[in-house]
Amino acid sequence: MRSTTDFNDNWLFEGTGPVRLPHTAVELPYSYFDETSYQRAFTYEKTFVADPAWAGQEVWLRFDGAMADARVFLDGAEIAAHRDGYTPFTARLTGIGPGQHVIRVVIDGSENPEIPPFGNVIDYLTYAGLYREVWLETAPALHIANVKIETPDVLAQTKRVQARVYLDNPQGMPLTGTLRAEIADGAGAVLAQTEVPISGAEAALSFDGLAGITLWSPETPALYVLRLTLTSPSGTDSRSTRFGFREISFTDAGFHLNGAPIKLRGLNRHQSFPHAGYALGRAAQIKDADILKHELRVNMVRTSHYPQSSHFLDRCDELGLLVFEEIPGWQHIGGLQWQDEAVMNVARMITRDWNHPSIVIWGVRINESGDSHDFYTRTNALARELDITRPTGGVRYITDSELLEDVYTMNDFILGHEEMGGNRPRTPLRPQQEVTGLPHPVPYMITEFGGHMYPTKSTDQEQRQAEHVTRHLQVLNAMYGDPQIAGAIGWCAFDYNTHKDFGSGDRICHHGVMDMYREPKFAAYAYASQGDPEGGIVMQPVTFWARGERNIGGVLPLIILTNCDELELTYGDYPPKRVKPDRETYPHLPHPPVVLDHRSFTAEELGVWGMKWERASVTGYLNGKVVATRHYVDNALPTTLQVVPDATQIGPQDAVRIMVRVLDQAGNKLPFLPEPVSVRVSGPAHRFGPAVLPLRAGSTGIWLQATGAGEIAVTISHDRLDPVTVRLTAS
Ligand code: GAL
Repeated sequence: MRSTTDFNDNWLFEGTGPVRLPHTAVELPYSYFDETSYQRAFTYEKTFVADPAWAGQEVWLRFDGAMADARVFLDGAEIAAHRDGYTPFTARLTGIGPGQHVIRVVIDGSENPEIPPFGNVIDYLTYAGLYREVWLETAPALHIANVKIETPDVLAQTKRVQARVYLDNPQGMPLTGTLRAEIADGAGAVLAQTEVPISGAEAALSFDGLAGITLWSPETPALYVLRLTLTSPSGTDSRSTRFGFREISFTDAGFHLNGAPIKLRGLNRHQSFPHAGYALGRAAQIKDADILKHELRVNMVRTSHYPQSSHFLDRCDELGLLVFEEIPGWQHIGGLQWQDEAVMNVARMITRDWNHPSIVIWGVRINESGDSHDFYTRTNALARELDITRPTGGVRYITDSELLEDVYTMNDFILGHEEMGGNRPRTPLRPQQEVTGLPHPVPYMITEFGGHMYPTKSTDQEQRQAEHVTRHLQVLNAMYGDPQIAGAIGWCAFDYNTHKDFGSGDRICHHGVMDMYREPKFAAYAYASQGDPEGGIVMQPVTFWARGERNIGGVLPLIILTNCDELELTYGDYPPKRVKPDRETYPHLPHPPVVLDHRSFTAEELGVWGMKWERASVTGYLNGKVVATRHYVDNALPTTLQVVPDATQIGPQDAVRIMVRVLDQAGNKLPFLPEPVSVRVSGPAHRFGPAVLPLRAGSTGIWLQATGAGEIAVTISHDRLDPVTVRLTAS
């Protein structure tokens, strides 16, 4: 029988501990730190006792992610090495004698120029550590190594499944036995079964005539399970793998899912968190996917610039969130050995992830690198050999670059070039043939825009944030209006820590539509408001509501990001005014914003500098009914300390985020309140970050890592408000 056991507890880290994995070697400050502090070797060590039941079995450790150069030693002898920080690897323990043994893992977090993405500067950090889980696995000597599941012809009336099963037989056992397979639906009901004899290291399975299947899509992310049972003279092995029925195509007329066109509206995600680096486990990975789907309301995410956690991808499958996954790299292509490693990364990524229905394209170029014909001929050929069901892409920013991939995936940063003295008028996106230089249209997608062209902090002046919003809206509008563009993935979802060579000098790229705590900036609602009202009403005025925050004063033009069909603004005791979405400026957006300006308000109506400032309210209407209201006061004061944990019931090993906000009388954040809050935690939890931290744009966040089962109490204090305690149960 196969077994998978948690091997994450009781590691000695650098001789002290114990620590539990996932673990980051160095907890960095929020900003202004020396990023070389984790760029060295670290040692993890764990003692374990061999189980007599392992006799005759295959036994190994599976490391889901170790950054960056990992070597594994068993009782002093090296048994495994892995030179990619983003994909799993195993260390074989088969045949070890009885009694106690020591596993030592040496992780070198240096930016080793032999290992992608290193060799030049990169705009993100690669925090050292055993930052994903480790599992102890046992299986019969002949066992299932992997399976690739395909669902051809999903638009036919009845469905088919084809699976190729790969067996591992390191002890050279006789390749005989039977492989039973069944398909079950999400509720566990078995839909079909089959059985084939084993005659080699691979076996092919097929199922025909499957009825009543729900296709996987963003609206109906239906998942099925293929359960395999291998019976051989070495014993019985079983393995279950989730998959979905869906068909994708990128054409020169956009992206189609299950035969229907969908515009891809997405954001890039780095997998990093403040203080904890890469080392937050399942719950935090799930939460990020949930934020992208439910708060940002995007239908696509790019795992820039490397394979991300399986927990994240599993959640994308469950949510119907489409994924662009790519190999590690950033602009730089190393020598031949480096390229060999990158080619192996293509195989590692695809063979780990080929059954995720959410993944619709493989990125097989080093992000934003120049052409490299032989190298990219290899990465493309390998991707197609391993997985013919998905297209390849390769992210570039250089125009006229060689297209060896199926989709020309372009970072189009043209918006803003006009400020750099270009003679082109303001242009959100270039037409694809100007970019590709090709004589004919090809499948084409925008994989980045925004970002460094207009870094924006959540504490920035309202006017800058309005421009940030406008830029995201203009690109989305251009994307929606151009049938040759499959979609656009903005840079980026969340602010991220980075090297000194990037960002604002504080080791942060303030490029997110959310900050590092995943607290939305106004631009987040440029995306969210494009979601259907049935999925939730969005109505976010891009204002802090003050007389003198903007240059010269006032709040006009006021963009209100919304999926309502009409809004009403009431200012003081003046009669309310109703305004419709601005289809003139944004004809292609599913839900253009309402823009209040002098088309609907005279300067006197909202007053001018020197006049009294008034309260206001904004009311959202849909089909004539009130669906949202927002009030603003004219004399904001700190009134409420809001403390919101993502969950109050958590697993004993889960990390949980707690958001803290200081609100005024109407429930709006006080964006310029610089006062600190302090955090006191009791119970089985580790707090990432300091115990006293400043509010930034009215909020801050804290991640806690549960360190076992029990009650956790978190008290947040602020000098001018009553303390608030939230209680969590880890079980
Ligand atoms: C791109 C790059 C991203 C990020 C972004 C900032 O060139 O691919 O990783 O650095 O710029 O806008």
